[in-house]
Amino acid sequence: MTDATLSNLLREERRFPPPADLAEQANVTAAAYDEAAADSEAFWAAQAARLDWAEPWTQVLDWSRPPFARWFVGGRLNVADNCVDRHVRAGRGDRVAFHWEGEPGDTRTLTYTELKDEVSRAANALLALGVQAGDRVAIYLPMIPETVVAMLACARIGAPHTVVFGGFSAEALRGRILDCDARVVITADGGYRKGAASALKPAVDEALEQCPDVRSVLVVRRTGQDVGWTEGRDAWWHDLVAAQSAEHTPEAFDSEHPLYIMYTSGTTARPKGILHTTGGYLTQVAWSHYAVFDVKPETDVYWTAADIGWVTGHSYIVYGPLANGVTSVLYEGTPDTPHQGRWWEIVRKYGVTILYCAPTAIRTFMKWGDAVPGRYDLTSLRLLGSVGEPINPEAWMWYRRVIGGDRTPIVDTWWQTETGAQMISPLPGVSTCKPGSALRPLPGIQAEVVDDAGEPVPNGSGGYLVLTRPWPAMLRTIWGDEQRYLDTYWSRFPGRYFAGDGAKKDDDGDIWLLGRVDDVMNVSGHRISTTEVESALVSHPLVAEAAVVGAADATTGQGIVAFVILRGDAAGKGADEDPAQELRAHVAKEIGPIARPRQILVVAELPKTRSGKIMRRLLRDIAENRELGDVTTLTDSTVMDAIRERLPEGS
Ligand code: WT7
Repeated sequence: MTDATLSNLLREERRFPPPADLAEQANVTAAAYDEAAADSEAFWAAQAARLDWAEPWTQVLDWSRPPFARWFVGGRLNVADNCVDRHVRAGRGDRVAFHWEGEPGDTRTLTYTELKDEVSRAANALLALGVQAGDRVAIYLPMIPETVVAMLACARIGAPHTVVFGGFSAEALRGRILDCDARVVITADGGYRKGAASALKPAVDEALEQCPDVRSVLVVRRTGQDVGWTEGRDAWWHDLVAAQSAEHTPEAFDSEHPLYIMYTSGTTARPKGILHTTGGYLTQVAWSHYAVFDVKPETDVYWTAADIGWVTGHSYIVYGPLANGVTSVLYEGTPDTPHQGRWWEIVRKYGVTILYCAPTAIRTFMKWGDAVPGRYDLTSLRLLGSVGEPINPEAWMWYRRVIGGDRTPIVDTWWQTETGAQMISPLPGVSTCKPGSALRPLPGIQAEVVDDAGEPVPNGSGGYLVLTRPWPAMLRTIWGDEQRYLDTYWSRFPGRYFAGDGAKKDDDGDIWLLGRVDDVMNVSGHRISTTEVESALVSHPLVAEAAVVGAADATTGQGIVAFVILRGDAAGKGADEDPAQELRAHVAKEIGPIARPRQILVVAELPKTRSGKIMRRLLRDIAENRELGDVTTLTDSTVMDAIRERLPEGS
């Protein structure tokens, strides 16, 4: 973020107090801040008590061995029972859990009773495949009801799942399966994206060539496309699951039993397996969903328009909304298929009252123009949410005016894969919102903005965002790598969790998030590490060296710009052939289409410090067409001139 943008942000003076009717009936009032401040453990214990526990806990928080936390020590519960059976037991089984909308327009409605039967059958199917509590199961599926069912079936039998986003490559899938040693994979023939059937099974087959320990693959038939088949390993979901009994008695697991592993990019090429556990995670996602979205399960229709393959989908499509017994929308496809009004058509069709999405989507809709949503009745909406990246005030104002009819509060929710649940956000019945600010930590959460020395900065200043107390949904470790857990999060400011984000406190002490301070990019709300893309590039025979930066992008937040040095033998020949196309495709194949660079620039040299570190800051200046920053630590200052000369016209 440039200084100009920053000072613009802090001059933002528009204020939006909560609507009176919402404030009057809000699930959570200002008193929650006081209660939590007085005794945060008592506060979280009260929220945990909203769930059904088979065994009560004996201690709320064990922080005797920081930074390894244990929440609700000794308590036992089953996540699937809490998300599904509990509502059926309470006589709410006829309530719709999901209105599912396939991209081609096919639909399916699942009540809580139907969900209970499906999850029980799937749990019995996993048991039939020999899956036991503690075994890892990989899920690689499109956005279909079976994805939710598969996750809950795993939770029901205590088998931690790892959901791999369907847009990731065979290579990325393989890495994740091997890292967590999953023995069973649940996938589909394919899913619908951008108006066509997009295959998934071939990527699984390719990945499994190098995963000898995977013994079973359960395949959902979604598109009907042809699939390769390995006898003895592959089974159709509609054969195996349908044949099972709909009776399954869930077993209660320890509060700290692993629930899932979600891989996310860090500052090295190897993704980190973020581990979430049972009791604390479910407590915080359920409470935050109830508080931040003010959900009324009898009347609201809730929609998180994100993919289940990211943490947003785990916490706010699956676990939070189901724990609260809410009716949700689940949409398979892309926002412009078959036309640019698809989302708004869905809002009108199901009477969506609460919508949660990423700024990148909002900016795309802005580009498409007000007329598109203008054609639909959106008056059912009463609350809007934003997540994944900083939301610029213009996008915030557009979202409120055009989608929210100038009535709805907007909750800008800051959190991460690691935090598991929302951490900094307005409360819609309490907070006066400021366009572009996530405001302050939620009740029960403590955050601070600190300087290089770890000292809290005064109001009006910027620094690094840290979390100063453990929270129930926090990651417990990085799967198989405790040292990396310590190094990444707890060593920069000892005793405090380093989030990797820059932030500023305004004169009221409210927090404005400014983006990552490490070598992690945020493209359309997805985290991608520069080193991950660099190592994909250098794995191509044409490339000798690569440096990747995230450059500001009006739609996607950041765009990936790669500077590459070609190998000696490659650089000479075929000067009229542009290797950029091939390299972009190569990255998409190695990691997934989301990591495909927006721009690839072939250069002769890269700017380096005397210690040999690539100066990404200078490359970012170039990628964003800025005057060059300080070049005094550069070994050879003519390098930058040489790079500039090589740039295409107009860059
Ligand atoms: C990073 C976490 C949270 C689920 C989706 C992304 C950025 C997230 C906000 C926000 C400013 C935000 C941060 C954070 N981020 N929400 N409301 N305002 N920045 O999860 O992939 O783990 O990425 O997303 O940079 O560190 P993730």
